[in-house]
Amino acid sequence: MIEINNLYKNFGTKQVLRGVNLTIEPGETIVIIGRSGCGKSVLIKHIVGLLKPDKGYVKVEDKIVNELSLKELYELRKKFGFLFQSSALFDSMSVFENVSLPLVESNNGFSKSEVLEIVNEKLALVGLEGILDLKPSELSGGMKKRVGLARALVTNPSYILYDEPTTGLDPIMSDSIDQLIKDLSEKLKVTSVVVTHDMYSVKNVAKKVAMMNDGIIYFVGKPEELLNSNDKVIMDFIRRTEV
Ligand SMILES: Nc1ncnc2c1ncn2[C@@H]1O[C@H](COP(=O)(O)OP(=O)(O)O)[C@@H](O)[C@H]1O
Ligand SMILES: [Mg+2]
Repeated sequence: MIEINNLYKNFGTKQVLRGVNLTIEPGETIVIIGRSGCGKSVLIKHIVGLLKPDKGYVKVEDKIVNELSLKELYELRKKFGFLFQSSALFDSMSVFENVSLPLVESNNGFSKSEVLEIVNEKLALVGLEGILDLKPSELSGGMKKRVGLARALVTNPSYILYDEPTTGLDPIMSDSIDQLIKDLSEKLKVTSVVVTHDMYSVKNVAKKVAMMNDGIIYFVGKPEELLNSNDKVIMDFIRRTEV
């Protein structure tokens, strides 16, 4: 379980998080939606301790993230797969090298052939095969996201954090990534947190949706409750984001 409790974060005089509260249950898939710049990336970076809160805390299982030692934090991060907004692949490295990197970095003790087997298995999970030797520059935007996702999966995480997984993709590609997120969360029984400003992803992926507004979680509920809400702030948000 991930518990976000009264989380505050400022950058200089800019108040980004102003008391975020949110509980994410084991095995669930939650979509966090909010306008561009509202603090979604800042929020999920707190979950894995990439940012420290000014006030409040994030608790993962029984651990308070900002109180962990560096060593404990690295241990905790092994439970997470993080798909960054940019895919964050290394251009000079092949697909195989990119995907196997977390395994190599964690000194896993696997043999070369075991690493190859794991990489192939994860690539198959994201619908890619036979591209081990390609470089990121030879891949489409959607393929890069999939490779980034295979890399996030390579350590068998319990939690997957997706930061804007469909940004920059065309609608068809976006739909297939949304479908993949859904399939993976069902197949792997992971806890998935999807951050997006894409209303389509809410409709396609979410069983539970949380809307960020003005530095807080303004709404948590089912997607249809959000979409049918009479609340002025929510209606205004949906009108602006609908395409
Ligand atoms: N490291 C940082 N230093 C200063 N300001 C930051 C930093 N990271 C994010 N911000 C600011 O915090 C706000 C929220 O950013 P972000 O979480 O990236 O928004 P989004 O919801 O689009 O992901 C933005 O105004 C951004 O400029
Ligand atoms: Mg962001």
